[in-house]
Amino acid sequence: TRITWSEDAAEKGGYPHFMLKEIYEEPQTLRNAITGRIKSKLPHFRELEKMGEDLTKIKGITVLACGTSYHAGLVFQRFVQDYAGIRAEIDVASEFRYRNLPLGEGDVVIAISQSGETADTLEGIRKARQSGAKVVSLTNVVGSTISRESDAVIYINAGPEIGVAATKTYVAQLAVLLLLGASLALNKRNPEVISQLVNEIEGLPTVFESVLASADEQCQRLAREYYQFRHFMYIGRGYSYPSALEGALKLKEISYIHASGYQAGELKHGPIALLDRDFPVFAIIPEDELKAKMLSNIMETRARDAKVVAICSESDREVSRAVNSRIEVPKVSAPLYPLVMSPYLQLFAYHVAVARGYDPDRPRNLAKSVTVE
Ligand code: G6P
Repeated sequence: TRITWSEDAAEKGGYPHFMLKEIYEEPQTLRNAITGRIKSKLPHFRELEKMGEDLTKIKGITVLACGTSYHAGLVFQRFVQDYAGIRAEIDVASEFRYRNLPLGEGDVVIAISQSGETADTLEGIRKARQSGAKVVSLTNVVGSTISRESDAVIYINAGPEIGVAATKTYVAQLAVLLLLGASLALNKRNPEVISQLVNEIEGLPTVFESVLASADEQCQRLAREYYQFRHFMYIGRGYSYPSALEGALKLKEISYIHASGYQAGELKHGPIALLDRDFPVFAIIPEDELKAKMLSNIMETRARDAKVVAICSESDREVSRAVNSRIEVPKVSAPLYPLVMSPYLQLFAYHVAVARGYDPDRPRNLAKSVTVE
């Protein structure tokens, strides 16, 4: 069918691209992801009730996913270990399916797939179930193959996402995964501590509304400054390492600029050799216990003449003195930073792609869901 300009514009709700529209939907996406998952101020997953004993006796968790979903999984892996004290591993599905992991009774596999159709993730699930592990999948698509082949399904309720590069669904995955991690901590932690975190998660839609009131303009300004560079290095530590990977993935997916994400502490073991005035660094440096370490990593990169863009907590003078450009995000607890960083990383990539003349909704060589190996 031929789409006329007006039909097309109406579908995009007045936004020039679906990607931008979907980023602006994030506050509502968060509300939908959280709704029904909190009972008496504590996280609650009705979908998991049928798993009963299996969840109270977890020996270990293995996370399985691809692409952006894998980055959400990295945040969950760290969180569930830190917060619920459960040993957790993670692998990309294309590796997991050919690896011999000793899984069995007592192991829970968390499979994350927006589409619920990714071939590698599906095969990983089949393999995990054959080994005797229970599979809980997290997906956006009701009735998808992955949802049908899992022991339990948690829907992220983000609504359809048209842009090929995942945006609002990543945010929904993170919110649901944090609640899930918190629910797995229920018999290990003081309920007060958990309900405080839950309360903070419930406040995120409002935080996102205020973020989105100014983030677009800030990111556009930054994109104008940096869109002509051919390389970008994203760095972070702790909960910000997955953000570095996701920021780099967004940029390469839609702007075709070479970008990679590193744990900032690894720079000295190789990647720093790449840096010079033509190779800017995007540092994810929130106010957390690793900030001082990040600041010294930033100094090392500045010493190589690399320009540094930082995304930091609001009113952070130390960071602002140390970098060339910066964007400030609201202060939140450490595990929530990957959430509040997301719209900025997405909008930066979006505006760089637009500045370079590309259509961010239809990146070359990529598909929304990859149903072949
Ligand atoms: C494709 C998409 C990515 C997505 C990945 C995993 O490569 O282009 O945006 O993150 O698949 O998809 P899934 O549906 O399993 O989350």
